[in-house]
Amino acid sequence: MERTFLMVKPDGVQRGLVGEIVHRLERKGFKLAAAKLMVISNELANDHYGEHKGKPFFENLVDFITSGPVFAMVWEGDNVIATARQMMGKTNPQEALPGTIRGDFGLITGKNVIHGSDSLESTKREISLFFNEAELVSYDKDG
Ligand code: CMP
Repeated sequence: MERTFLMVKPDGVQRGLVGEIVHRLERKGFKLAAAKLMVISNELANDHYGEHKGKPFFENLVDFITSGPVFAMVWEGDNVIATARQMMGKTNPQEALPGTIRGDFGLITGKNVIHGSDSLESTKREISLFFNEAELVSYDKDG
């Protein structure tokens, strides 16, 4: 079963959007496999956003993502990587369509509520950065 890594960013947690976001993914039919509220260390932020090192927004990005708790999650389901990204909407919330998470709740690229893996490779990398095997729960969603 395909998995993806999603994370409600500090702005989303602070604004009380965790439940709304979990609700949307549950209603869509995806299955929650792991979740935790945590504060990201500087080291983890650098690893997670390694591909953006050297970009002009990198330091702000690390400062922001370490500024308060995030809600890290693993979700499972058919085509969940691409579908969750559709549900998130474009990186810049001003370009994200209404009905998407960023389109409904975001205003600026620097504070765009949620992160989601963009490929199978990044999913594997990001899940292993945030969770160990024992934290990934296996169960039958439909009873
Ligand atoms: P995310 O999906 O978490 O991955 C990289 C993040 O960098 C992105 O969401 C944005 O929040 C952030 N970011 C800040 N500025 C920019 C920018 N100019 N272009 C792309 N991403 C940016």
